[in-house]
Formats: sequence, structure tokens, C-alpha cells
Amino acid sequence: QDLTPIKDVYQDDFLIGNVVSVEDMQGVRLELLKKHFNAATAGNAMKPDALQRTKGVFTFTDADKLIDKTLAEGLKMHGHTLVWHQQSPAWMNTTEDAGGNTIPLGREEALDNLKTHIKTVVEHFGNKVISWDVVNEAINDNPQTPSDWKASLRQAPWYQAIGADYVEQAFLAAREVLDEHPDWDIRLYYNDYNLDNQNKSKAVYNMVHEINTNYQKNHPGKLLIDGVGMQGHYMVNTNPANVKSSLESFISLGVEVSITELDIQTGSNYQLSEKLAEAQGYLYAQLFKIFREHAANIGRVTIWGLDDGTSWRASTNPLIFDKDLQAKPAYYGVIDPDKYM
Ligand code: G3I
Repeated sequence: QDLTPIKDVYQDDFLIGNVVSVEDMQGVRLELLKKHFNAATAGNAMKPDALQRTKGVFTFTDADKLIDKTLAEGLKMHGHTLVWHQQSPAWMNTTEDAGGNTIPLGREEALDNLKTHIKTVVEHFGNKVISWDVVNEAINDNPQTPSDWKASLRQAPWYQAIGADYVEQAFLAAREVLDEHPDWDIRLYYNDYNLDNQNKSKAVYNMVHEINTNYQKNHPGKLLIDGVGMQGHYMVNTNPANVKSSLESFISLGVEVSITELDIQTGSNYQLSEKLAEAQGYLYAQLFKIFREHAANIGRVTIWGLDDGTSWRASTNPLIFDKDLQAKPAYYGVIDPDKYM
């Protein structure tokens, strides 16, 4: 297929990203990646359990190889992720009581583990990344009192060990490293999913607003949290008006917004009907139309996977290329939303 590169279509708007792994960095997959995308996120290679499975033992070799190859192929790299409740080794924030039960680690030790991980990793990769997901998925699904963001925090191990300020502490630790390197240009992001849910997006809004307002008391005009990442794991019946309203609320915080993990699940069980494929394409088109209208405040739109066959939700065919790497209606929705709609 002689397809228009997506990154060319959006070159004046925002970066167009995809997920990378060592397996993607060769042959036809690499060609497809390079043709359409100019930014990359490691699917797993930069998560806490990949980089510091054992306390004090940092394993950077695989991630370094992946990043160096990605940069050499001309894509920019986003860092994912420093603090998360999944794919993080238990020693970071839990311990065992005398009876062998898992309990939260003491605050000081957990804080020390949090800061050491963040500072070591941010320092190590340095200016090779353009941005970091500093904290990932800290807010509950559908919080009942979004005005109280602290009550909306997920009961994650980091929260249980440190308390509600772990989010702010994480950003402060990353910011400290960046302050030592004024020549680096790296944005610090808060990243989460289901932000089309208005309760969840309000809680995130309130959290980012309060943390940045506190920071500005001593750092006038500066941001602690530079960006909000809307993951965007949508469904074919997701309402784009909700995505738009959340996007606009984050933009009103004065931060950059990125769409960090876009895919659109269909109800299919591997077999995607023509009708469903068209409906999926229509939602991709509607979303990219909204993103383009807000391009001045959007840094990057990243699609979470190259093809349906290797997606984390392969059975729902959520991506723009099928398992044979052929363009789906979704691809056409992305490159020309107006024409598609
Ligand atoms: O590497 C092993 C392989 O050796 C083994 O044979 C295989 C058997 O299952 O597992 C492989 O590891 C898997 C890894 O992906 C690499 O493919 C893990 O089991 C699997 O859990 C892991 O899934 C990742 C998932 O995060 C874990 O939470 C997905 O690739 C990754 O796309 C997904 O990404 C997350 C974002 O980080 C945060 N937002 C949600 C998003 C989707 O879940």
C-alpha cells in the first residue's frame, strides 16, 4: 500500500507516537513504525520492575539499547513510567509482618525508595527523553467526590505507605533532577485512563491544580506538573464530547496535554465486521478532528500499538493496522477526519 505517512499529515500539529519494543525494531515492523510515527513510548522496558527489580540494582542495558535504536531511527522518546501500582517490585513500598502478611512499608523508607528510583532513572536517561510519565493512574475509577481529590486516590501501595502527598513528592524528586540540568528540555506528566469520565477528570483536574498552585507559592510562574496525559483506551461507543470536555478542562490548567495510549476497542472477538470497522474509523476521525482543533496545546498523540495482532487487547482489534499490517478504515479516519466523516 502506498499510504500517506500519518506524521506528515500532523507535522504542524503534534507528534504522532506509537509503542516500541525490541521486537518492533526490525524488518517490516520497523519500516511501518518509521513511516508513520515520529515519537515512541516503551511498552514495558522503562517501567519500575524492568529497571530496578532488586533494591539498588539498576538494570538499564535493555532499555538503553531500545532507546538508542529508537533515537537512531529518528523518533523521539517519551519515558513511561516512574511511579505506578503495576509492574513495580513489591520491595519499593511493602514489607512483611511477623506473620508473613504483606503490609505497607514505613513512610520514610518508602519515600526514600520513591525518590531514589525517580532520581536515578531521570538522571540516567537524561535528555534522551522529551517527557516522563512521573505518576501513572493514581486516581480511582469514577470517584464519588471528585472535588476531594485526596479521597479519590487509588488505595495503591505507594499511597498506603506514604500518604496522599506521594504524588507531589514524586514530581518534586523529578523536578529536582531537571533543575540541576537547565539545558535539558523534559516535560513532567501525570498520566491516567478513563479521563472521558467526567468525575475522574474532575478529580485529576483538582489534583493537578492544587499541586501546581502550591508549587507556585515558592516558584512564581513555574509548573511542577507540566502536562496531563489522557491515555485514551476508548471503546467504539465512547462519547467524543466527553473527551473534548476533559481535554479543554486540562488545557485550562495551563499545562500541555498529550493523548498517550490511544486505542479503540470494538466488541469483536478477533473477527472484525465491516460495520464495526467503519464505526471504529468514525470515532478515530472524530477524535483526531478534536485533537487537531486543540493542536496548540497538544504535545503528542500516541497510538498504543502498531497492529491488532500485537495489541494488549488483540481480540478487540483496537488499532489502525490489522494483524497483517494492512490499513483499516481507522487509518483513513486518522489521516483525513473531515473526509471520513
Ligand atoms: O515478557 C513476557 C514474556 O516473556 C512471556 O512469555 C509473556 C507471557 O504472558 O509475558 C510477557 O510479559 C508481558 C508483557 O506485557 C510483555 O508483552 C506481561 O505478561 C504483560 O502483563 C505485559 O502487559 C503490559 C501491560 O501494560 C502490563 O500492565 C502491556 O504490554 C502494556 O501494553 C500495558 O500498558 C499499559 C500501560 O503501561 C499503562 N496504561 C495501560 C496500558 C494497557 O494495559
